[in-house]
Amino acid sequence: MAQLPLQFRLNGSDVAVFADEADNLLSVLRGKVGDLTPKFGCGQGGCGACMVSVDGKTVLSCVTLAQNVQGRDVESLAGLSGEQLDPLQTAFMDGFAAQCGYCTPGMIVAARALLRRNPNPDRDDIVEAISDNLCRCTGYEPIIDAIQLVAAQERGTRA
Ligand code: FES
Ligand code: FES
Repeated sequence: MAQLPLQFRLNGSDVAVFADEADNLLSVLRGKVGDLTPKFGCGQGGCGACMVSVDGKTVLSCVTLAQNVQGRDVESLAGLSGEQLDPLQTAFMDGFAAQCGYCTPGMIVAARALLRRNPNPDRDDIVEAISDNLCRCTGYEPIIDAIQLVAAQERGTRA
């Protein structure tokens, strides 16, 4: 299959690669750009491990055609943590919300997207926001607690 030029921004930096028409975004991010923060879980849109944001909306990158992000802004977990961890990462670690950690990048992308659109989510909002993200380790409660804690911290209130 012919390789087509593909340009987009990843975490604020310009990216230019060649990709097949049928390549999915996850394979391009991991295999061609070298961003290993989105994880390959099911590869079928069923687990959320590969979640990133495109123009501010979360997508499952394993079922997103790479050519669909032409000219757009993609954000992965790598873009949330620069010199310092995102507070969600710290809260996940401190609250045992990351155990094997495989779901964690997608969970944090989903959680940060939620807190950007709704700084004061209730528990149901959080459950809904992470409904595309599967976790086989934690039972979800520590994840929900960690997101609530960070939401409260960022509002300057107590959880
Ligand atoms: Fe994309 Fe599971 S790897 S949803
Ligand atoms: Fe293992 Fe979530 S911490 S899958």
